[in-house]
Amino acid sequence: MTRTILVTAALPYANGPIHIGHLVEYIQTDIWVRFQKMRANDCIYCCADDTHGTPIMIRARQEGIDPERLIARMHAEHTRDFADFDVAFDNYYSTHSPENRRLSETIFSRLREAGHIAEREVEQAYCARDAMFLPDRFIRGACPKCGAPDQYGDSCEVCHATYTPVELADARCSVCGTPPERRRSLHYFFRLADFTEPLQEWIAGGHVHEQVQNKLQEWFAQGLRDWDISRDAPYFGFLIPGETDKYFYVWLDAPIGYMASTMDYCRRTGRDFEAYWCDPATEIVHFLGKDITYFHALFWPAMLMGSGFNAPRRLVIHGFLTVNGEKMSKSRGTFVSAATYLRHLDPQYLRYYYACKLGPGTEDIDLNLDDFVSRIDSDLVGKLANLASRSVPMLNKNLEGRCGALSEEARRMLAPLQEAAETIAADYESCNYAAAVRRICHLADEVNRYVDQRKPWLAIRQDREHARETLTATLNAVRILTVYLKPVLPGFAAKIETMLGLEPLQWSHAGSVWEHGRIGGFERLLERVDPEKVNAMIEESKMEQPQDRKETSQPSPLEAEPLAPEISFDEFMKVDLRLARVVRAETVDGADKLLRLELDLGGPKRTVLAGIRQAYDPPERLVGRLLVVAANLAPRKMKFGVSEGMILAAGPGGSEVFCLTADAGSQAGQRVH
Ligand code: MSP
Ligand code: ZN
Repeated sequence: MTRTILVTAALPYANGPIHIGHLVEYIQTDIWVRFQKMRANDCIYCCADDTHGTPIMIRARQEGIDPERLIARMHAEHTRDFADFDVAFDNYYSTHSPENRRLSETIFSRLREAGHIAEREVEQAYCARDAMFLPDRFIRGACPKCGAPDQYGDSCEVCHATYTPVELADARCSVCGTPPERRRSLHYFFRLADFTEPLQEWIAGGHVHEQVQNKLQEWFAQGLRDWDISRDAPYFGFLIPGETDKYFYVWLDAPIGYMASTMDYCRRTGRDFEAYWCDPATEIVHFLGKDITYFHALFWPAMLMGSGFNAPRRLVIHGFLTVNGEKMSKSRGTFVSAATYLRHLDPQYLRYYYACKLGPGTEDIDLNLDDFVSRIDSDLVGKLANLASRSVPMLNKNLEGRCGALSEEARRMLAPLQEAAETIAADYESCNYAAAVRRICHLADEVNRYVDQRKPWLAIRQDREHARETLTATLNAVRILTVYLKPVLPGFAAKIETMLGLEPLQWSHAGSVWEHGRIGGFERLLERVDPEKVNAMIEESKMEQPQDRKETSQPSPLEAEPLAPEISFDEFMKVDLRLARVVRAETVDGADKLLRLELDLGGPKRTVLAGIRQAYDPPERLVGRLLVVAANLAPRKMKFGVSEGMILAAGPGGSEVFCLTADAGSQAGQRVH
């Protein structure tokens, strides 16, 4: 019976590029969808960019553009990256869409009418300078537990303590640095506890992997708490119906984006939206990472139940990507963006490697770069691609590119391959791709052994039909193995289909045989991995701008004040920098910023006027110190006298100006290099 299946992957945030961690999920999901389509199920893959919330609003502000511009650019980048990795969505949409607005309003209103929405005042951190409430992640200060400076408002990256922003010592707005105030405002809450029983029933219904069920039991034991679903202006999102300055929290409308994307798909293709979201016979399957389990296993099904839509049939929850056993890291160069990967390596390698590593559970998956190279070389190139690349050219060169009939012996060789069809299908269905790939590789080993025994490269000289028989059997094996690999390697499969002149392979083709085929020309399938390219990719990733902290901070001073025109090294060297000892330092009548300094440069004394009075009060503190002076500057007549040179100092201004100094061992007049 044909199943109707709607598959989603979590919606990536529109404030950053797709990276190899994200790709675990989008590739895992893509493999499952391709598998379902090959099984002749009616399956679609819908996704979208997650576009709302404070980080996106702030980032757009910092770039000096509208959030709409930013999300349009990210949408284009994301869809390009996904296409390059053969991730084939049936629809890729945006949460900033009219459908999503309408659906969010509908769901909210239905929940409110049914009494599941509460309203109450909340006290929160507020930045008076930016005129906005600050999410925890936009407050920084010293960790209350270990004292580490510059930590987020919700958790410490040094000691991993969690806390509320109020507990931070020295809390500051991470946008402008102002200490936040406390302000009250009215918020809307979703009463999650109303759904305790139906949720428990739903979870017991086996819609999630048992590892996740256990985690969920812990949450139930703690009791389900109300969920704050509103945010005050300014916010980039959807206004709450009836409000003028309150918006839906991004996590309310984000999962509704799954529905909006489906709706857009239905509009494009003439399909029926309600068949997906209201007919319980439809299977809704969400793929997601373990970090967002709470949203998908509690809030989301409760929202759907409370507003009359289908609850998900299944949540597939994966672990996190580590690289060489460690968290992805910008400094180690393992935070590799999709675009950087593609500049160096074939996307099929990553698809294959992730498939090798992905099981049905929530364990983290490790990309070990040495193992990556050796698995691609020995299994994918050496075992799988090799079967085709040793047979097709031989058949073309010596046997007019024609296959023959299958002998009894050949059929016996192929039987175990064909019999594996349902086992491998069950592996894919349960998301145990690692098991599927292992089986496929074992089968390929057997076929390689068969070819080695029959030695068609020798037979071709004495008994051409013997060789044709071997190659016909081998290419039948290639055809069956390609069926099994096609969800993982669609590009590879397409090349085999063209080479052998086959129609697009479906799962059922594994059960049939293929005789007297005429094959086309040979195309190279896959190259071995060049380890140098792996290194180059890591090196390039190290060079890329660290982004995680920057996203929430101010624009750099360079952006705020563009650089003056470039000067040459020689021009710079014209400045003669000397050490000068301060002989006298005094205030200047009528000038509250200036000091008059008398300097000894080893020759006649000089008088310099410097705007550092607030930083050196009383000025006598400077007497006897060695400062750095631009000594060959033309004397300049100023309001309070002539200045013969300029001292070098740095700092934000006011009382924080620091003169460059030298230690007592140096001599006045000495040149500074
Ligand atoms: N926007 C939310 C999801 C909203 S769904 C209604 C979000 N976005 S995300 O860009 O941070 O992550 C998107 C998906 O990628 C999540 O499922 C997340 O778990 C997954 N991954 C992000 N980094 C990952 C790794 N390093 N490893 C594996 N998966 C990771 O969360
Ligand atoms: Zn601020």
